[in-house]
Amino acid sequence: MHFHFVTLFPELIEAFMSSGVMGQGQKKSLLSYNSTNPREFTSDIHQSVDDRPFGGGDGMVMLAEPLAKAVDFCRQEEPETLVVYLSPQGQRWSDQKARALAERKPAHFTLVCGRYAGVDQRWIETHVDEEVSLGDFILSGGELAALAVADSLGRLVPGVLGNRASSEQDSFAQEQLLECPQFTRPREFRELPVPEFLLSGNHKDIEAKRRAVSLLRTRFLRPDLWQSQSRDEREFLQALSWALTLPETELRSLGLQAELPIPKKESYSS
Ligand SMILES: C[S@@+](CC[C@H](N)C(=O)[O-])C[C@H]1O[C@@H](n2cnc3c(N)ncnc32)[C@H](O)[C@@H]1O
Repeated sequence: MHFHFVTLFPELIEAFMSSGVMGQGQKKSLLSYNSTNPREFTSDIHQSVDDRPFGGGDGMVMLAEPLAKAVDFCRQEEPETLVVYLSPQGQRWSDQKARALAERKPAHFTLVCGRYAGVDQRWIETHVDEEVSLGDFILSGGELAALAVADSLGRLVPGVLGNRASSEQDSFAQEQLLECPQFTRPREFRELPVPEFLLSGNHKDIEAKRRAVSLLRTRFLRPDLWQSQSRDEREFLQALSWALTLPETELRSLGLQAELPIPKKESYSS
């Protein structure tokens, strides 16, 4: 999978893309990236990439022409690249969207980062395939958003993660459920124990109970995700009645204590 970043700040891209999972993916020759600066496509002595907005208003607007030439340059590298403009006005990025685009052929993405007050809309209309937003908030530039998109796509390429299964067990991967919380040593931290069911060694039982916790956390913490799928109410009720048998400290360890309809301070035997 290849990412071509169009950015006024290529050094921001370099630091992230050479570290962690993205860096490992490149060492394994599964991921690659390059950056193009729209300033390289300016014709005036100041290498201007922005100008004042027509109609007045605060801030500067990125010029259409350098962005257009930068995208044309990316298309020379791969004519069928998907040109994505990172924008707070775009479609909300999600795991579902990432998984759909990770299957795209060619796996070549041009990620264009805006700055200032944004870009000339006519460039969007003529050069952009998709507008993608990280959420309903404003960043100072598209680089963080472009890197988030690249990271969430790149980690889905088979072999990039050490253990292929791990992206399948992450939150959202299975039926839009939140993953069961994770624990490691010590067995007790600030009086909170590792839930007993994780210590049984019975992997079938552990998987069933992890799923029960996933159902409960999704239902209580993310009702929007819960409602996005058709759910088996009986399975949920079974999970709930099992959870109500857990000691209060274990419920707290699982991040469920505040969510379940139990009287505080009462403890249950396991
Ligand atoms: C300060 S913002 C401009 C926002 C623009 N004035 C508006 O209200 O739609 C500058 C750049 O940051 C990026 N950006 C800001 N918020 C973003 C978000 N939520 N998702 C993706 N990109 C974002 C875009 O590339 C944008 O061109």
